[in-house]
Amino acid sequence: MKWRKIKKYLKNIRRINPTFKEVELLSRKTQELIQENKATKSYIKELEARIGFLVEEVYKNEIVIDESSEGNFWYGDEGIQYIIRNPEKPSTNKTLRECFSKILLKTPDVNSIIELGCGNGRNLVNIQSINRNIKITGVEINPYAVFEARRKRVGEIILSSLLNFKTDLTYDLVLLRGTLVTINPDDLDAAYDLIYKLSNKYIVIWERQAEENVEVSYRSTGKLYVRDFVAEICEKYNNVKLVDSDWEKHSGISGDQKNRKWVLLEKS
Ligand SMILES: C[S@@+](CC[C@H](N)C(=O)[O-])C[C@H]1O[C@@H](n2cnc3c(N)ncnc32)[C@H](O)[C@@H]1O
Repeated sequence: MKWRKIKKYLKNIRRINPTFKEVELLSRKTQELIQENKATKSYIKELEARIGFLVEEVYKNEIVIDESSEGNFWYGDEGIQYIIRNPEKPSTNKTLRECFSKILLKTPDVNSIIELGCGNGRNLVNIQSINRNIKITGVEINPYAVFEARRKRVGEIILSSLLNFKTDLTYDLVLLRGTLVTINPDDLDAAYDLIYKLSNKYIVIWERQAEENVEVSYRSTGKLYVRDFVAEICEKYNNVKLVDSDWEKHSGISGDQKNRKWVLLEKS
């Protein structure tokens, strides 16, 4: 589709109730253009804004706003851009499958998994490719990420901030990958309580870790809060113990440089 045609098409979308198919088409087109390096920055911005508009329309009855500035950041354009910048890639999938294979070997009694901050669902899809029988749930604040994750049809994907998420259900394994660093430290206690309450047995914390608490600037207005999440969780709940951990290894980048590892914890 040529840019002129897309523009005309987008103009029409403004006036109608968008459907899933239309968001899908726009999303696919945007990712193609980025991958082929065929679009200017302002063009991409326009498409992102339109994707935001469309998914809000599609999911308007499900959205509950998280008022924190971090909630706003990840709910809005920055969250959309993160998903567009990080589509599923064979190399990342390979890394994820390797790590999840190790984790699932250590946790053969797991029948259900929930990921908090599941993004586009790439972790969940890789878990499912290893074991089809595990019941999968994802919770995600950004509507476009939810859209992408739901397209993968791996399980139930809930549109919610983890800070607003309420359920009586529990899960054999609770997973967070790259999500705790996005949570304001003032809200971490509540996040830890949720993780602990949701878990029947296992918790996987897969985050950048630092012994000292560090605030890292992220994109233009965002922040990431890196700290020793595992130590904090084990200190807070004395029946949570470390089972295993390993660095995430990307081709060409050593784990140490990336400073991100998965840590498997068990609740006794
Ligand atoms: C760095 S991304 C990681 C995504 C995914 N876990 C992965 O490994 O690809 C962090 C994700 O957490 C989501 N997120 C941030 N704050 C959240 C919150 N309060 N509740 C739920 N999801 C949140 C973001 O929208 C984003 O998709």
